[in-house]
Amino acid sequence: MNDHILIVDDEPSIRNSLQSILEEEGYEVSTTDSAESTQALISEKLPSFDAALIDIWMPGMDGLTLLDWLREREENFPVIMMSGHGNIETAVRATKKGAYDFIEKPLALEKILLTLQHALKERALERENKELRNRTMLDGVEIIGNSKRIQEVLAELEQAAPTEGWVLIHGENGTGKELAAKHIHLHSKRNQMPFVAVNCAAIPEAMIESELFGYVKGAFVGASRTKPGKFSQANGGTLFLDEIGDMSLKTQAKILRVLQEQQFEQLGGTETHDLELRIIAATNKDLEKEIQAGRFREDLYYRLNVIPIELPPLRERKEDIALLVDYFLHQFSQSGGFPLKEVSNEAMASLNQYYWPGNIRELKNIVERMVIMVREREISLNHVPPVIRLSNAEVMQVGNLPNNLRQAMTVFEGLFLSESMKKNQWNLDQAAIFLEISRKELEEKIQQFEITVPLDI
Ligand SMILES: Nc1ncnc2c1ncn2[C@@H]1O[C@H](COP(=O)(O)OP(=O)(O)OP(=O)(O)O)[C@@H](O)[C@H]1O
Ligand SMILES: [Mg+2]
Repeated sequence: MNDHILIVDDEPSIRNSLQSILEEEGYEVSTTDSAESTQALISEKLPSFDAALIDIWMPGMDGLTLLDWLREREENFPVIMMSGHGNIETAVRATKKGAYDFIEKPLALEKILLTLQHALKERALERENKELRNRTMLDGVEIIGNSKRIQEVLAELEQAAPTEGWVLIHGENGTGKELAAKHIHLHSKRNQMPFVAVNCAAIPEAMIESELFGYVKGAFVGASRTKPGKFSQANGGTLFLDEIGDMSLKTQAKILRVLQEQQFEQLGGTETHDLELRIIAATNKDLEKEIQAGRFREDLYYRLNVIPIELPPLRERKEDIALLVDYFLHQFSQSGGFPLKEVSNEAMASLNQYYWPGNIRELKNIVERMVIMVREREISLNHVPPVIRLSNAEVMQVGNLPNNLRQAMTVFEGLFLSESMKKNQWNLDQAAIFLEISRKELEEKIQQFEITVPLDI
């Protein structure tokens, strides 16, 4: 496709001659006669342009102000400034503001074409780099699993991906919600555009608006420069709203408004920005229950939940455990430069029977730890953390019976501790109250029994 150039100049003679010259060279050309009309055009169509030639002196808003405005929308869009009253100072100002180059009028044909060629070449290189970065970011998004459950999910993901439908992913901690979101993005039409993740639970309430919408210089104390928010960063691509069940009602209202109007303003800004992105949301909460409890807005739920996707917990697809162990063994041996280890049958059996409250993330952490810590070539049962090894009633069966009462009590204590924590959603304060011990004591026991507390809880 031909490169599309925008010419902005208030003088019709310049617009016309530049247009015919560039068209002769095979460019596609559009023109506007003022900064204001350019803003209107570009608000809708910036991605369709590859470069712009902008006159500095125009009635109304001048070219340098327009340049500032453009920079806020897209940092790397190539702009070449033109001016009849060229002086060094203006040229320096223009380049400081991020213009690619500055050309004096009367315009020298050669110089224009050459500058334009360079600018477009740089732009193309940069796009390639960006694509490469995107691809590396999306590396390791392979979804491993042969079980019927995960294969069904994969089919759903692939069916949803090429559509523009918004997706709501639900699943326990560590079941691969973020991975699934990336997978959708990678298989969508937007895969050349950014994938931006926002963890709604991790942003303090007071900062959520500036994080999401961005702010303009001077919007509040400390806002020393204009900063785009996640909505702008993701524009054209996919915005992953993670842990949406943890947003306050106030934040929910703000987000809902933006999603309904498909427009937003930066904090302290007057201008509205159009929203052009796909939303994928995720939560480990049962949102219908949250709605009933008055903690989640029903209207927001219906807006986000166009395509629901449910990620099954690992314990419901145990066939995948061996496959995942193998995958992570390879991954961590390779990245850490360790020789590849094997897992003994007994060790594998104990990994298979475990409840996996932290799902794949927990499994991944444990495999990593074993790859690093185990010296032998084979990972055997006693290398498996006790809480996994012993949380099975089978340990009590003949043959596996503890050797004496003290050992039996220890086994039961470990089992009871981890079950109690699960029961209390791994909230240590709550679990300590339940167990009638102090939090400090509980922490010591967690260490003593090597209980893995799922991350991000
Ligand atoms: N099917 C899978 N195959 C390979 N790796 C997986 C799979 N599912 C999850 N993982 C890996 O497990 C880890 C946890 O996954 P992810 O962060 O996507 O889970 P999550 O559901 O978002 O968890 P949380 O609720 O804790 O945020 C990641 O490192 C991810 O790459
Ligand atoms: Mg996550």
